[in-house]
Amino acid sequence: MNTTKMQTQEKPDLLVVKNLTKYFPVRSGVFQRITAWVQAVDKVSFAVKSGETLGMVGESGCGKTTVGRSILRLIEPTSGEVSFNGENIITMRPKSLKALRRDMQIIFQDPYASLNPRMPIGEAVMEGLQIHKIGHPKERWEIAINMLKKVGLEEYHARRYPHEFSGGTPAYWDCPCPCVTAKVYRL
Ligand SMILES: Nc1ncnc2c1ncn2[C@@H]1O[C@H](COP(=O)(O)OP(=O)(O)OP(=O)(O)O)[C@@H](O)[C@H]1O
Ligand SMILES: [Mg+2]
Repeated sequence: MNTTKMQTQEKPDLLVVKNLTKYFPVRSGVFQRITAWVQAVDKVSFAVKSGETLGMVGESGCGKTTVGRSILRLIEPTSGEVSFNGENIITMRPKSLKALRRDMQIIFQDPYASLNPRMPIGEAVMEGLQIHKIGHPKERWEIAINMLKKVGLEEYHARRYPHEFSGGTPAYWDCPCPCVTAKVYRL
């Protein structure tokens, strides 16, 4: 796996990953005993400053998604250190971790897989605000509409369902969903 960065001026590191390792157990037999380990990520280290973009390149199955999910602790890393804005993510308690997830979020590869087909887009964008208890319903609607407008959509799109959009559009509203609650670090 290789990493490529677009560098900006000198600033402190925002995200620091040191020797991040994740092994998945392989279970088999009637008792589902662990018979082997998949070494998905093995001692990956990098640092990203505010305003930088880091690209991770590698063949399918080399561990890119596992790195992302481990950083957010959507899965528990086997070992290694991760810190964001100076805070140690690995030892963080669930309450602080939830607060941090306003600032660190994943935009998934397949927008259809990350959206509820029975939920209009506006509601999907508002869901994150509701989970993080940001604003009252009317304010949430306004924030959601503003986010949609930022990515080139209109208010009427907020009432549409995912299947009502043309092929290329889902990627647009897949972005506002995680971004709507996030603090923007010099994008
Ligand atoms: N929950 C899991 N249980 C067991 N093995 C897993 C699990 N998740 C991922 N793996 C394995 O870990 C390795 C890394 O997978 P990962 O999805 O991180 O790769 P990737 O680089 O994101 O691939 P792609 O480019 O196809 O998205 C693969 O061998 C995969 O089969
Ligand atoms: Mg992947």
